[in-house]
Amino acid sequence: MKFTLAAFTALLAPAAAEIYFKEQFNDDSWKERWTVPSEWKSASELGEWSHTSGEFNGGGPDDKGIKTSQDARFYGLSAPLSKPFNSSEKKDLVLQYTVKHEQKIDCGGAYLKLLPGGKNFDASKFGGETPYAIMFGPDICGSSNKRTHVILHSNKKDENLLIKKNVNCEDNQLTHLYTLIIRPDNTFEVFVDNKSVRSGTLDDEFDFLPPKEIKDPDQSKPKDWVDEKKIPDPDDVKPEGYDDIPAEIPDPDATKPDDWDDEDDGEWEPPMVDNPEYKGPWKPKMIDNPDYKGPWKHPMIPNPEYEYDEEMYAVCKDECTHIGFELWQVKSGTIFDDIIVTDSLEEAQKFAEETFFKKKDVEKELFDEAKKKKEEEEKAAREAEMPDEDEEDFMGGDEF
Ligand SMILES: *[C@@H]1O[C@H](CO)[C@@H](O)[C@H](O)[C@H]1NC(C)=O
Ligand SMILES: *[C@@H]1O[C@H](CO)[C@@H](O)[C@H](O)[C@H]1NC(C)=O
Repeated sequence: MKFTLAAFTALLAPAAAEIYFKEQFNDDSWKERWTVPSEWKSASELGEWSHTSGEFNGGGPDDKGIKTSQDARFYGLSAPLSKPFNSSEKKDLVLQYTVKHEQKIDCGGAYLKLLPGGKNFDASKFGGETPYAIMFGPDICGSSNKRTHVILHSNKKDENLLIKKNVNCEDNQLTHLYTLIIRPDNTFEVFVDNKSVRSGTLDDEFDFLPPKEIKDPDQSKPKDWVDEKKIPDPDDVKPEGYDDIPAEIPDPDATKPDDWDDEDDGEWEPPMVDNPEYKGPWKPKMIDNPDYKGPWKHPMIPNPEYEYDEEMYAVCKDECTHIGFELWQVKSGTIFDDIIVTDSLEEAQKFAEETFFKKKDVEKELFDEAKKKKEEEEKAAREAEMPDEDEEDFMGGDEF
């Protein structure tokens, strides 16, 4: 084998990452790429996206994102990828973006969808019914309904499959980074803020495949199977006189009232009370059943329908061509930013270093400062209003 310099370099340098989409929303050109689906919902139901750097931003006033700006509205927006992603090329698929619930969210979706789209994709109609390949990202409603959705389309089943285990999400007011990678070896991984929060195989964590084993249809619980753990003791007998014990007796502590008049009120009788000696109807005591066999277990056999699917990862089998948001938000104010679709996790991490990681610490400082300032203002306002009152009573209210 002849070792050329080119071959040698190719061995050293990994193939250049492919970027299918990248969006930072920093200037007004985003409007040329993204379309609001005007025909999805009526104008009064559809919320407006604003273009803003937000209230506290580690990247300064020129670092902008898009923000949901009206409460209790649907939000739609889609854009074509700069290059279609075709799963048949057997590449990793990485989806990454940031979500900032600046409003302190109570209820609202913040997930992103990767769409098969195609040549006939009608951006004006994009909405909840539009087929998608991947739905990924946080969704919050109340304190008990918080998750990072990972929903993948199965071509074989023609169904959208939810991840079976819960993947947590962040619900504070700071920016968080969400990353999903799907690999052609049918594994996946979810990262929040670059930390792996869930990983595994697609067949373990999603219902892509039929079960490996089924209950043997030729077997059923034998008629004489004994699964009663306890039985009445056949040797136990009812004690003599048991049934003669009355359920109630005259109250031994009651006394005839002083003003009782036998003539007017009739003969005095004490009220009846529960008899402490009474034990209810007699029942024999229970003993362990000597014939007990334990619960019957249905024998399992290999499922004849089971077949491994090599192409579970191929959510973009006929290419994915678009990306979009299709959301409902009760409390608006979520800012989306720094989206990347690529075939390289390293490329996505590099992009995160140039964006999310660069802004993160300053954002936290600005947030803490703004929170402190607001608390001080509120305290001053309270003191000005009620100079004589005890401050302690008016603490609380950490809204910011
Ligand atoms: C995706 O790639 C496969 C394999 O290269 C090819 O056969 C197929 O036509 C591609 N799909 C589209 C829509 O181009
Ligand atoms: C992100 O995670 C990778 C490991 O998956 C690590 O190599 C990299 O340094 C991390 N980036 C930052 C900025 O922490």
